[in-house]
Amino acid sequence: MKLSKSFRTLALATAATFGLSLAARAVTVSIMCGTVGQDQTQCKTGADAWAKKTGNTVKIVSIPTSTTDILALYQQILGAHSTDVDVFTLDVIWPGIIGQDFIDLAPYSKGAEKDHFPAIIANNTVDGHLIAMPWFTDAGLLFYRKDLLAKYKLQPPATWAQMASEAATIQAGERKAGNAKFQGFVFQGKAYEGLTCDALEWIDSYGGGHIVNKAGHITINNPKAAAALTEAASWIGKIAPEGVLNYAEEDARGVFQSGNAAFMRNWPYAWSLGNGKGSAIAGKIGVEALPKGGDSGKNTGTLGGWQLGVSKYSKNPAAAASLVMYLTSAAEEKRRAIEGSYNPTRPALYKDPDVLKANPFMGQLLSTFTNAVARPSLETGSKYNQVSTAFWNTVHDVLSGKTKADVALASLQGELKRIRKASWK
Ligand code: GLC
Repeated sequence: MKLSKSFRTLALATAATFGLSLAARAVTVSIMCGTVGQDQTQCKTGADAWAKKTGNTVKIVSIPTSTTDILALYQQILGAHSTDVDVFTLDVIWPGIIGQDFIDLAPYSKGAEKDHFPAIIANNTVDGHLIAMPWFTDAGLLFYRKDLLAKYKLQPPATWAQMASEAATIQAGERKAGNAKFQGFVFQGKAYEGLTCDALEWIDSYGGGHIVNKAGHITINNPKAAAALTEAASWIGKIAPEGVLNYAEEDARGVFQSGNAAFMRNWPYAWSLGNGKGSAIAGKIGVEALPKGGDSGKNTGTLGGWQLGVSKYSKNPAAAASLVMYLTSAAEEKRRAIEGSYNPTRPALYKDPDVLKANPFMGQLLSTFTNAVARPSLETGSKYNQVSTAFWNTVHDVLSGKTKADVALASLQGELKRIRKASWK
């Protein structure tokens, strides 16, 4: 015990010296930054500050907007053992798919992981290795137009049915008043990972489970899940435009932020931009937990979020780890929360007055974040992306009216069994 402790201290000291000497010879560290909303600019601001502080240089590498496309790109880069990229931004659902391509950050973290939500640290631990540090967390939220609810004397909706009825009222009123483009509700309806998030919320809000349960059993073929999808399909062409079937996060935000929708399902990042310069609806936005599936249903939100990991093929792992530790530090998470409404992964920051002033919803909806429902990525491991692809395609078929929900879910159950074969691992 004593021996291993001193060995660890020695290893840490070596790592620190190594980091210093690397900084001394000023290396270039490349980082993949996202492209949704403020992702790129906020990532660059943080990375540039680290470069200035350490004397290193950072190179920002742009990635696609859709997480589905990013995963495909990463699989190519990592599959080729490319040394071109050092730091990767990783979706919360990927540790079981590409986690083995990242170094263990524990020797560099100086115990920082104890200050982050334990569930995210557990999610990011693969075979005992901390393959990524949590950077920001996400949960689906319902954004609404406070001013329009007041205008039509409506309350923030408690159930999806109430949301649909209010959306119809506001849409009819605004169109009559001259805005032909006005929509009741916008969300992520395109066939990609974002639709998996939205549909899991509808289903979970009805108590229809999480596609695959904790024990690994496929549970998706059930009447509550079918009821949830049937209700969602009824929105298309009525309170949501047909075009929503091709919307990702930024498409929904574009419509809402230009003043053309009453309700929007999106992630927290939309708050800061919606209240920012150039937004048509600054100061008019309300946020609440997503509605319940009927009176006996529950409020829910899919757990999302991003981590930072260092590639096993990086030539400068110590400098790359130093960048990761800087970007996931308390000061940087606080800055990003205030400037970009990125939810911190550190519980302490949910009590920070500056963070709460900029983002009142982070305090009011804390339980939405701490109880967010996980997609079955841990249960299905390396097969998660196949599971999700089958799920979002099925949901897309139901939304577009190609298949009825009960028939579609029965066939999805069979497809998921074929993907699982004998086991998920
Ligand atoms: C957000 C979430 C991420 C999710 C993605 C889906 O980026 O943080 O977890 O997979 O949206 O579009």
